[in-house]
Amino acid sequence: MAQAQSGILPEHCRFGIFIEAKVIEAKAGRDLEQIRNGCKQFVSALNDLQQKFPEAALGAVVSFGSDLWKSLSAGQGAEELKPFKPLGNGLAPATQRDMLIHILSQRHDINFTLAQAALKAFGDAINVDEETHGFRWTEERDLSGFVDGTENPTGDARPGVGIIPTGQDAGGSYVMVQRYVHNLDVWNTMPVKAQENAMGRTKVDNEELPSDKRQPTSHLGRVDLKEDGAGLKIIRQSLPYGTASGDHGLFFIAYCARLHNIEQQLLSMFGEADGKTDQLLRFSKPVTGSYYFAPSLDKLLSL
Ligand code: HEM
Ligand code: MG
Repeated sequence: MAQAQSGILPEHCRFGIFIEAKVIEAKAGRDLEQIRNGCKQFVSALNDLQQKFPEAALGAVVSFGSDLWKSLSAGQGAEELKPFKPLGNGLAPATQRDMLIHILSQRHDINFTLAQAALKAFGDAINVDEETHGFRWTEERDLSGFVDGTENPTGDARPGVGIIPTGQDAGGSYVMVQRYVHNLDVWNTMPVKAQENAMGRTKVDNEELPSDKRQPTSHLGRVDLKEDGAGLKIIRQSLPYGTASGDHGLFFIAYCARLHNIEQQLLSMFGEADGKTDQLLRFSKPVTGSYYFAPSLDKLLSL
């Protein structure tokens, strides 16, 4: 199988950097060359850092929004890719950008070094709209206090969920990001029982609520979906981010061999499937939303 980019499958990273950028249109002709060269330069900086700091378990992914992907690939591949559209009457805004650079590892210092290399590699071909620094919080909990990532596929199950197995996109993956801002004042005045009902799991010991107690509008009720008897699985690499005094929340990011799985969960959370919305929206709201395609490493280097 074609090699996937190195940031999709790692488990239990401790830090992440998420950079979303637009390609500067006025210079698109020249800058597509700069984007292509930038990808090669970025991967070379990534390889150098991976060799120098093996214990950091550094990984990264460069992915593209549909407009830029069409230009870079001459319209080939990533058939499911499309621009992110707002959902739920504005509950979920769309802020589609052209490129996402996702960096993750055990060390923020190494991530930061690679982020600097990314900016150098792509230079003035891109305008960074958002740069978010994520960290793993205590016991892998979201800032809501609930463990996040428990039902993520693990080990050998991950490639089958996250990576396109065959065809011209083999080794590639679809990506969705949404930056969520939490209102922890609201959340922390809710009784723990109500929080547990909203999530669909218990808080301290992180157990699934039995199905007869799980509310259809709980987060799990919205996203734990089946289609033809099979679970719609995705790989989540989300991390808490932000400042204690200012905005903070969850930087949500999911990878999947099919954009379909991610989209079905979104439609279900934001009331577009059956009119019901996710109770976690009572304390957290997305302020960004984009879809991207992450080509295989070989494809990235030969665009
Ligand atoms: C599960 C938190 C957004 C998809 C969970 C769990 C928590 C959580 C605490 C239970 C533990 C686990 O299995 O990881 C959050 C928070 C969010 C958020 C705080 C934003 C503020 C999303 C979004 C999606 C999503 C946007 C997809 C579009 C899932 C899936 C599961 C899950 C697929 C596993 C369901 C299962 O099979 O049991 N989330 N989540 N989440 N979440 Fe989220
Ligand atoms: Mg499940």
